[in-house]
Amino acid sequence: MSFPNHRPRRLRTTPAMRRLTAENRLAPADLILPAFIREGLTEPSPISSMPGVVQHTTESLKRAAAEAVELGVGGVMLFGVPAVRDAQGTASLDPEGVLNKAIRDVKAEVGDDLVIMGDVCLDEFTDHGHCGVLDSEGYVDNDATLEIYGRMAVAQADAGAHVLGPSGMMDGQIAVIRQALEESGHKNTAVLAYAAKYASAFYGPFREAVDSQLKGDRRTYQMDAANRREAILEVELDLEEGADMVMVKPAMSYLDILADVAAMSPVPVSAYQISGEYAMIEAAAANGWIDRRGAITESVLGIKRAGADTVLTYWASELAGWLKES
Ligand code: PBG
Repeated sequence: MSFPNHRPRRLRTTPAMRRLTAENRLAPADLILPAFIREGLTEPSPISSMPGVVQHTTESLKRAAAEAVELGVGGVMLFGVPAVRDAQGTASLDPEGVLNKAIRDVKAEVGDDLVIMGDVCLDEFTDHGHCGVLDSEGYVDNDATLEIYGRMAVAQADAGAHVLGPSGMMDGQIAVIRQALEESGHKNTAVLAYAAKYASAFYGPFREAVDSQLKGDRRTYQMDAANRREAILEVELDLEEGADMVMVKPAMSYLDILADVAAMSPVPVSAYQISGEYAMIEAAAANGWIDRRGAITESVLGIKRAGADTVLTYWASELAGWLKES
């Protein structure tokens, strides 16, 4: 063979050639739209640190879910913002509470055409903002929290959730939730385990989105950013406990973790492109510093390429629309 041989470049010559030879593709069905609903709102309320994302009313949430179905989006992950909070996060258990009601409303709107997921965590419901209840020293009490998670899971399954997403990083949460589901006759309700969830500065805008009461941090229960091997332990434990799918979160600063998990997981792997990742790209684009559509598409493709089967992203519906038109 004579050199230079233009082998790599030959496959980049035209858009059709690049499309044909692409190793990874984005599809609407791989995308999961996280959505917030706030109790007592009469109009959708913008989240200033997440331009384009709102706290929904019941009506606007139903419309967003119907639109997601139209666009072929794979699923929706619901977060509730209650009007009243207490130390135990009691509103999370109320069948008429904001999140359980939202699950029921979305189910009535879209049925089984969209995979409906609920956030199983107490941070939106507690007046101290932690993901669990506190002991007398203010430490997040793992086992007392598990007991509430089990009941919360049943309430969401009763409301019609197809998938539960425990995001609180308590040890043993998958086992407790699986057992509670079995005992309450919800054998087909799946669990998407937030298996490797790191304590991250990039959750900042989410705190505004859910009106978080948290002072301090979650470092005694979420993972340390320094740790890679430990993610495998977290995933293995969740699999042993019965996780149907596992998640790595955040996504973009943790693509090594995502690749590791994708290489070992026998179940589907999700990655969550979180609020801070969204905010950074929106802010840079708003300043004219990066091309918005290009950056969004590339960021989600990068997450898929690293090994995610599904991606939770606040751009799910917009991106699905672009994918449909191209
Ligand atoms: C906890 C939860 C958080 C997010 C999803 N679930 C916040 C946290 O762990 O502090 C963050 C998602 C995002 O930043 O987009 N229920």
